[in-house]
Amino acid sequence: MKYPKHPMLFALAAAVLFMVFAGTASAETPFEGRKKCSNCHKSEADSWIKTAHAKAVDSLKADRNKEKNAAMVKAKLDPKKDYTKDKDCIGCHVTGFGSEGGYEISDPDKFLVGVGCESCHGAGTDYRKIHRKAGEAFEKSKKVTPRETLAEAGQDFEFIEKCSACHLNYEGSPWKGVKKPYTPFTPTVDKKYAFDFEKSVRNNKAMHEHFKLSGTFEGPPTPKFHEEFQKDAKPAEIGKEE
Ligand code: HEC
Ligand code: HEC
Ligand code: HEC
Ligand code: HEC
Repeated sequence: MKYPKHPMLFALAAAVLFMVFAGTASAETPFEGRKKCSNCHKSEADSWIKTAHAKAVDSLKADRNKEKNAAMVKAKLDPKKDYTKDKDCIGCHVTGFGSEGGYEISDPDKFLVGVGCESCHGAGTDYRKIHRKAGEAFEKSKKVTPRETLAEAGQDFEFIEKCSACHLNYEGSPWKGVKKPYTPFTPTVDKKYAFDFEKSVRNNKAMHEHFKLSGTFEGPPTPKFHEEFQKDAKPAEIGKEE
């Protein structure tokens, strides 16, 4: 490419180039909802459905339980009000709000209700196709697929940024990415809302229980707790995509 000699033109060309690249980078994988994930990963899905994450939208409904009503009052919110259509609330209680394919207030998809699979593992439209292919290849000939291909397709193996965007999103938080709307439930309201990633990620009652992987995927990136979880994992029930 020939660079324009005039500094203003050069700056303009640079700006255009930047916009083109920034545009490509922001074309992220769409969300899709947990239907397909749950059909294949039956064990994790059956465990997840019992968690607070799965029921998170219930906390926004006016008929929430007594304990939650008390929590609402403590956070200076109206316990008699329904907050399920409030854009300052719903985002952290559903999957993919504000992103392509994610939850919409005007058109609520039941597979995006609650903090679902893709809230932690990443928007899954692309990587779940690799799971299917790699699973078939492994079944047929024990062929192993590098985990790196999943990361490239948008699967998250770090988790911490995802959790923080909901749990540490408030003014004065130690997390760098804070932006409105903030969570009303901060350590100032009650110390129990302080978020400790290392401890929380080991809380199987909040994530889901862990089940044995057969080794279809291999290599980095693996979270440092991966081996620890797999050591005590139960046998998995795997279904088929529907
Ligand atoms: C999309 C937002 C969102 C993400 C992402 C998210 N959470 Fe949550 N989490 C919530 C909400 C909302 C609740 C409260 C659910 C309810 O009771 O309504 C919750 C509840 C919890 C609880 C239970 C708290 C209790 O009082 O028992 C734990 C533990 C937890 N989350 C840990 C995590 C961890 C660890 C991650 C990341 C691996 C994570 N969360 C990712 C929104 C999120
Ligand atoms: C930035 C993300 C975020 C936003 C925005 C948000 N929440 Fe939540 N909410 C959370 C998280 C995270 C928890 C879990 C806190 C915990 O238990 O540690 C939670 C928990 C709750 C709970 C349960 C509290 C308890 O002690 O059991 C209620 C009720 C609730 N939220 C209502 C609301 C309402 C109403 C709004 C809007 C005014 C709102 N939330 C906005 C992230 C958010
Ligand atoms: C709150 C965060 C969170 C949510 C929601 C979540 N997961 Fe996970 N999941 C994790 C973490 C953390 C691991 C451990 C990763 C590792 O060991 O490499 C994990 C591991 C897994 C594994 C690997 C095997 C195992 O059991 O450890 C599968 C498969 C899985 N999740 C599927 C799902 C499906 C399907 C859903 C939705 C029904 C879901 N997950 C929802 C956090 C979450
Ligand atoms: C067609 C079935 C299918 C679908 C759909 C599917 N997966 Fe998987 N997934 C698999 C198979 C097979 C494996 C490899 C399991 C093994 O090694 O035992 C896997 C592996 C995983 C793992 C572990 C990866 C690792 O670190 O080794 C996670 C986490 C996971 N899936 C989450 C999801 C989520 C979230 C979705 C939905 C967005 C999803 N899967 C959709 C079949 C599927």
